Amino acid sequence: MNELARFVSALPKAELHLHIEGTFEPELMFEIARRNNVRIPYKSVDEVRAAYRFGNLQDFLDIYYAGAGVLRTERDFYELTRAYLKKAHEQNVVHTEIFFDPQTHTGRGIPFDTVIRGIHAALEDARKEWGMTSRLIMSFLRHLSEEDAFATLEQGLRYRDWITAVGLDSSELGNPPSKFRRVFDRARAEGFLAVAHAGEEGPAEYVREALDLLHVTRIDHGNRSLDDAELTRELARRQIPLTVCPLSNLKLQVCRDLNRHPVRQMLDEGLMVTINSDDPAYFGGYVNENYTALIEPLQLTRDELLRLVENSFKAAFLDETMRQTYLENLHQTAGQVN
Ligand code: ADE
Ligand code: ZN
Repeated sequence: MNELARFVSALPKAELHLHIEGTFEPELMFEIARRNNVRIPYKSVDEVRAAYRFGNLQDFLDIYYAGAGVLRTERDFYELTRAYLKKAHEQNVVHTEIFFDPQTHTGRGIPFDTVIRGIHAALEDARKEWGMTSRLIMSFLRHLSEEDAFATLEQGLRYRDWITAVGLDSSELGNPPSKFRRVFDRARAEGFLAVAHAGEEGPAEYVREALDLLHVTRIDHGNRSLDDAELTRELARRQIPLTVCPLSNLKLQVCRDLNRHPVRQMLDEGLMVTINSDDPAYFGGYVNENYTALIEPLQLTRDELLRLVENSFKAAFLDETMRQTYLENLHQTAGQVN
C-alpha cells in the first residue's frame, strides 16, 4: 500500500451510504441459505462472484434482490449486519449510517419487526464493544408505488427511536423523486430527516426534485448534478452533502473510467463530497478501497483525502458535540500518521 493509501486507511471515518443488503458476502449467503433450506442458483462462491458483472443499475438490482431473498430470520439480519460492522471497524469506521430496504423483505412475507430487530441488535453490540455509533435510514423502493411506501412508513413509525431518516433507492430512471413527494412530506412531519438517491443514472433534474420537492438534506450519489452548472453552484453554496460511491459507479458503468470520476470536479468546485462503499460485497471494496481507488486516477493529495474524511463527519447525522469530538480525534490521528 502506498503512503497516501496507508494514511487514509488509518484515519477514523464515517460511512454515510451503505445498503446493509449490499454487504451480503457470498460465503455468508451460502451459510444462511443452507441453514434456511433456501436454494440459490449457484454451485459455489466463485460462481456467485463470477455473476457480479453488471451492465447497469438494473442488472445489479436483479441479483441484489435475489441474494436478499435468502434472509429469513432475526438471526440472519443480525449476522449480516454484524459481519459488515466488523469489517467497517477493521477499516477504522467509527460512525456508520446504514440503509435498509424493508420492502425487499416484507414483499416476500418477512415481518418488518424481524428485519429491524436483527439489524438493531447488531448496531447495539457494535456500540457497546467498540463505541461505534450508527444511524438507520429506512429506504423506500422507488420502483414500487407511493402507496406501498406509505404502508412502509406506517410500520416504521413504531420504531421511530431507531430510525433517523427516510431514503429513496432502487431503479432510478422513470421513477423520479416527485413520485414520492407526499410520503416524504409525511415522513418529515413525523420527524424523520430525508435523503434520496438522485443523479446516479438519472438526470440532474432528479437532484433538483429531491432538493425542492422531497426537501432532502443529503443527496446519495449526485454525480449527474455536474451536468447543470446552476445546480452545482447551489449545491456548493448550500454545502449539500453528496454521498459518492466510486467503485459502485465503476461496476454499474455510471462512470467508465476512474480517471474521469466526478469527485475531482466536486472537490475543485467546493462541494461537500463524501466517499462511501454503497454495496461493498457486490462492487469489490469497502470504504477504504473506495478512497484508495481514487488516489492515483485523480491525483488526490493528503490534504484532499483529509478533507474528504472531514466531510464524512460534517455531513453525518450527528449532534454538534459528537461531531466536534469526532473531528478533533480525526485531526489528532492525522497529525500522527506519516
Ligand atoms: N440499492 C442498493 N444499491 C443501490 C444503488 N447504488 N442505487 C440504487 N438503489 C440501490
Ligand atoms: Zn446506494
